[in-house]
Amino acid sequence: MQTTAAIQELRAAIKTWRQAGARIAFVPTMGNLHEGHLQLVRRARDRAEHVVVSIFVNPMQFGPGEDFSRYPRTPQDDQDSLVAEGVDMVFMPSIDTIYARGTQDATRVEVPGVSEGLCGDHRPGHFTGVATVVACLFNLVQPDVAIFGEKDYQQLAVIRRMVEDLCWPIEIEGVATVREADGLAMSSRNRYLTAAQRERAPLLYQTLCLVAERLRGGNCAYAELEAEAMKRLEQAGFVPEYVAIRNADSLGPPDCGENARVILVAARLGATRLIDNLRV
Ligand code: PAJ
Repeated sequence: MQTTAAIQELRAAIKTWRQAGARIAFVPTMGNLHEGHLQLVRRARDRAEHVVVSIFVNPMQFGPGEDFSRYPRTPQDDQDSLVAEGVDMVFMPSIDTIYARGTQDATRVEVPGVSEGLCGDHRPGHFTGVATVVACLFNLVQPDVAIFGEKDYQQLAVIRRMVEDLCWPIEIEGVATVREADGLAMSSRNRYLTAAQRERAPLLYQTLCLVAERLRGGNCAYAELEAEAMKRLEQAGFVPEYVAIRNADSLGPPDCGENARVILVAARLGATRLIDNLRV
């Protein structure tokens, strides 16, 4: 496995593979890799001859007062995991490599519509940061296929829309959320939880399952179901930001009985912000 922070070295490898007519799959990450990330890497392996993984904690997608500086960074463990998965290339650029002019003055990619509402309301500028860095990484790696987790459901929708709008010949594939045995969606941020909070955290997924059951039973009182779920989370000590039932494709309001729906949730548990979702 090759590891590099240099654009030139990344481009040289990509060029060699392309000239040989090989396909390239790409998995962008912020590192601190867990089983969820590795599932994406395995899918990437299935989809192409060569797999590139990026590890870059992207300052542009963190708001002021968010966890950019304390975000867990474990580069050696990450590289060990990726060697074991048979990854060809790990790209770990510095901040200056990606943002030569700083994040304030960088050209930005805005994706209206799907970026608005939900996490877009609670993390202003977040999806612009995500779309901008992913656009930059796509231009560097020029993958045939890029793999993302459904765990970050709105993010996946933003990336799909960006690729469609900008006519990039890149297939975007989503992979189902990987969970701990008790249902908690795996996340690098789970390590911020205290032991007591970790014990309570699976209630987030349990709440999604409860709402899903109601929807499957034909209940279409969406506002009521959302409010009930918010209350349940509050009573368990969460500070919920939103519980939202949406059309699974557009993320707009769903019709009653529409078959593709998704329930999305964001909630704070102490200082930790957790998100999850469930398709129905
Ligand atoms: P990060 O949080 O490191 O996640 C990298 C990828 O792993 C994303 O596509 C995310 O959805 C996926 N992922 C995380 N937890 C998962 C889980 N439990 N099951 C399945 N997939 C999971 O998302 C980002 O980084 C960044 O925003 C990025 C896209 C790299 C842009 O900076």
